[in-house]
Formats: sequence, C-alpha cells, structure tokens
Amino acid sequence: MGNLLDRLRRVQDAAVEGKRVVVRVDYNVPLADGKVADDSRIRASLPTLENILERGGAPILLTHLGRPEGKVVPALRLDPVAKRLEELLGKTVRKLNTCVGDEVTQAIEEWEPGSVILLENVRFFPEETADEAGFARKLAALGDMFVNDAFATLHRAHASTLGIADYLPAYAGLLVQKEIEALARLTDSPEHPYVAIIGGKKARSKLGTLRDLVDQVDAILIGGGVAFTFLRSLGQNVGGSIVDESLFDEILLVSQKAEEKGVPIVLPRDAVIAAELSDTAESLVVPINGIPSDAMGLDIGPETIALFGEKIATAKTIMWAGPMGAFEFAPFSAGTKEIGQALAESDAFTVVGGGETGEAVKKLGLAEKMSLISTGGGACLALLRGKALPALEALRE
Ligand code: 3PG
Repeated sequence: MGNLLDRLRRVQDAAVEGKRVVVRVDYNVPLADGKVADDSRIRASLPTLENILERGGAPILLTHLGRPEGKVVPALRLDPVAKRLEELLGKTVRKLNTCVGDEVTQAIEEWEPGSVILLENVRFFPEETADEAGFARKLAALGDMFVNDAFATLHRAHASTLGIADYLPAYAGLLVQKEIEALARLTDSPEHPYVAIIGGKKARSKLGTLRDLVDQVDAILIGGGVAFTFLRSLGQNVGGSIVDESLFDEILLVSQKAEEKGVPIVLPRDAVIAAELSDTAESLVVPINGIPSDAMGLDIGPETIALFGEKIATAKTIMWAGPMGAFEFAPFSAGTKEIGQALAESDAFTVVGGGETGEAVKKLGLAEKMSLISTGGGACLALLRGKALPALEALRE
C-alpha cells in the first residue's frame, strides 16, 4: 500500500474564509436518558470546527446517528448531540430538523459568524446509504466546499461521505489526518516486533482481520469470545463456552497461513469461567481444557495474562481490537484490565481500535497512555487490513 497520506487534500489548505463548508462528522454516539453518554467523538471533531471558525468559515455539519434505515426515528434525532456540541465548543449551534430544503437554505443565509449549523440525522433519508446522486447533489448545493472529518465512517460509501465529493472540492479534516497518520505507522513501516491482540465476543467479525494481519504482524494473541471458537476448532473441549462452528474451515485456513508465515497464534491457557453472565456470578479460574459443560469461559485467566504480558513487553508496535472478556461485568474484567495496563506500561507504539476496546481503555483511565485510540472500529480495522476506504479515496488530489 502507498503512503496513506499521499495526495490527501487537507482542510488547513482550503480557503474557507467567507465560505460555506459542509463538514461530515461522525457523531454516532451512545445516548442514555436523552443525553450523550460518551462524547469522545464530538470532542474529536472540535479541532477541525475551530480551525474553520477561526478562519471565518461557516461550518454546516452532517452526521448520522444509529441506523434508522431511511425513516425518521424520533429517538435518533440530534438534539442531545447539538446540546453537547454547544457546551464543548462554546459557540452557538443551530440545530435543524432536516438536511435539505427551504428550512436549511434559509438557516444558512441567516448564519451568524462564529456559529455552527447542525443538520438532522442524515440517515433519516433512504438516499443517504444508497449514495443516491440526486441527494448527494442537494447536500453539495448547501456549501462551497466539503470537509470530511468522519474517520469512523470512511469505510461507508454513502451520499454524505462519498457522493457529495463528486460535486464539491473535498478535503480531509484534522481528525481524519491524525488517525490516518497514526495508522500509517502500522501499515507502512511498523517497527517490529508488531503484535496484534484480538478479542471481542464474535469470532465472525474478526476472522477477515486475522487473515489479513497474518501478512503484517509477528504474533497474534487471541482472547475474548473469539478464542473459544479457535480452541474448539483445534479439537479442544471448551465446555459450554460460545462457539461458532460454521467458522472452523476458515479458521483452519488462517491457522495454516500463519504457520506458513511463521506467525504464532497465541491462544489462552486458562480461563475465568461461570455458569452465568452477571455481576454476582460465582467465577472460577480453570486450565483451558478444564471447562465443564455447564460453564462458559468469560475471561482469560492469570496464566494467559502473564503469557500475553511477555509478548506485549517486547513488542515495538501493538494493535488491540476487542476486549479479553466480558469486562462490563466485574468478575470477568481482569483480563481486559491487565492487558490494558500492560499496553500502558509498554514503550511500543500502541493503537487501540474504537468501539468496545476504546471504551474499556477509557473506563480504566488508561486513554492518555495509548498512542492512539481510534474513533472508528470498522474503519480502523479496514485500514489496518490494507483495504481502500472509498470515502478516503475521494479526498485525494
Ligand atoms: C461506527 O460507529 O462504527 C460508525 O459510526 C459507522 O456506523 P455504521 O456501522 O452504522 O455505518
């Protein structure tokens, strides 16, 4: 892959003064009790917005929230997001109830210098995910230029991420540049040893990543639910742990590829088990071949933590995607906590994939110790696998 930053048009080079700038952000944030429960993605967009505002541009923000499937879903309106953005930015945020039409055109005409306009959830329109050209053209008509700062949505070919770039000069925002720059250190010339740590509940969502990472890394450590499907496919008894048998053939191919390349796939040697998944569950540490049929593995055990810790301590580059266990429940949180701690103490360049892993690292108070916590899960993994991201390609000269 060429340098990811090659020929990328950058927002700081765009002449934004007096211009209407359509900015695609990713404010797909969790909501709880009508409030933003985690504002990291909003915070991450502030440098780009401040850059445009300071230079006299008019930011017109577009984002999605959830998957409303082309219909207006009241619970997915952006009012709580607008409120949080206003608090964080310290500027007026005028939130509209739609994305196109007279209400929007008029609000843009009335724009006050130093303020921001936030359009309604763009996925209320079915044309968005269909990347419908007419809709993309209408969005483009709202501005003089387009800035994409939605790193977490770069793998989506939608009207507000891809189609719009056909009709406006398009630039990468500061968050997109920052994440790409950090991830390029993994894809272009990683310092070795490069260790990937893969976990999470579902093996299915991680297999493609594992297959592609074998070409790049020196070792792969597997924990979380993913590990039990791997172990079972090797003939190991894993008791009542969750296993996806439909993946066995593909796991065999990944294992063969890893063996040919001399890349060790390191699996857990022990596990924390319980009969139920709850905060009060009675848990027990057992060797990996000692899980009874009425219990399931829900975290990696201390021997595995030590083994993974040794690999982490000698690594120069580390990528971590997926918690080591059901960390949201106290009895099964130690694996994720200890691995997070090991990364925090390492001198390696450490990248944490977005979503659950990023959330865990933040909860543990270790965020400052990581080189990058990506704001994107899917987009981050796609990039690390060497895939071209359509919305990113649209920002190149
Ligand atoms: C994410 O949360 O990963 C991004 O916002 C993309 O959301 P999507 O998977 O619904 O496209």
